[in-house]
Amino acid sequence: MSEFITIEQIDEAVSAIRAKTKVSPKVGLVLGSGLGGLAASVKNATVLPFKEIPNWPVSTIQGHAGRLLIGELFGQNAMVMQGRVHFYEGYSMGQVTFPIRVMQRMGVQVIILTNAAGAINPNFEAGDVMLLTDQINMIGMGGMNPLRGPNLEEFGERFPDMSHPYDPELLKLAEASAQEKHIGYQKGVYICLAGPSFESPADLRFLRAIGADAVGMSTVPETIVARHGRTRVLGISGISNKANLNGSTETTHEEVLAAGEMIVPKLSGIIQGVMEKLNLVSDR
Ligand code: HPA
Repeated sequence: MSEFITIEQIDEAVSAIRAKTKVSPKVGLVLGSGLGGLAASVKNATVLPFKEIPNWPVSTIQGHAGRLLIGELFGQNAMVMQGRVHFYEGYSMGQVTFPIRVMQRMGVQVIILTNAAGAINPNFEAGDVMLLTDQINMIGMGGMNPLRGPNLEEFGERFPDMSHPYDPELLKLAEASAQEKHIGYQKGVYICLAGPSFESPADLRFLRAIGADAVGMSTVPETIVARHGRTRVLGISGISNKANLNGSTETTHEEVLAAGEMIVPKLSGIIQGVMEKLNLVSDR
């Protein structure tokens, strides 16, 4: 596949999905590392392994099941990705964000992106949930922006606004849901690095100095593509580890997956609340 995705490739995947289900999903949900457990809540699911969908990138890492579920999630028609691919796996930015384009063509109006992230903010602990208020596109600042290449006019303009990467109304719904259910949460800025190596202590001090609260290797490219098409985004990080600002501890993928088990019930409670309240938000 060439570096840049075409509308024909996107629509080929859409047709293949539509051939398997009559459900018109209105919400898209991406479940990050160790967070796939939420997929069990999808009712009457049509389950499509990523490898059976034309042009869909297939994840290569542990903790990502690699399946698309289409069905009812907490009362809303939804398409749920159990796992995603990352730039560090060797995929192009077009491939990394391909599923977001498919969601947009399927008619999805709201996308909920989840990820596992390392805490940079010293007040955060492993097992915390952070609602994203904003992002730093570290991975894209040097040129790896998912919108590089021919502009897909079907979705949006060449130079899209990015003043609200995360939708303020969805953020309010998430906060209200967490408060009602007495689920503790943090809010903050997520920064995306390419990975796959975790950060050095000096990397982390730099990231802290430029205003990041949590660091990960996903989400930001997906949010940019979603916003290019004016799709509203809610972002939620599961804090899997405290960043190692002084080099005293090591970070492992096992730790990231283990924290996921602690985080899934909180994430599930917040997402359920948002889904139930969604009809209160005016469609834009
Ligand atoms: N750094 C980058 N990505 C991550 C981390 C981290 O500490 N934890 C989970 N994903």
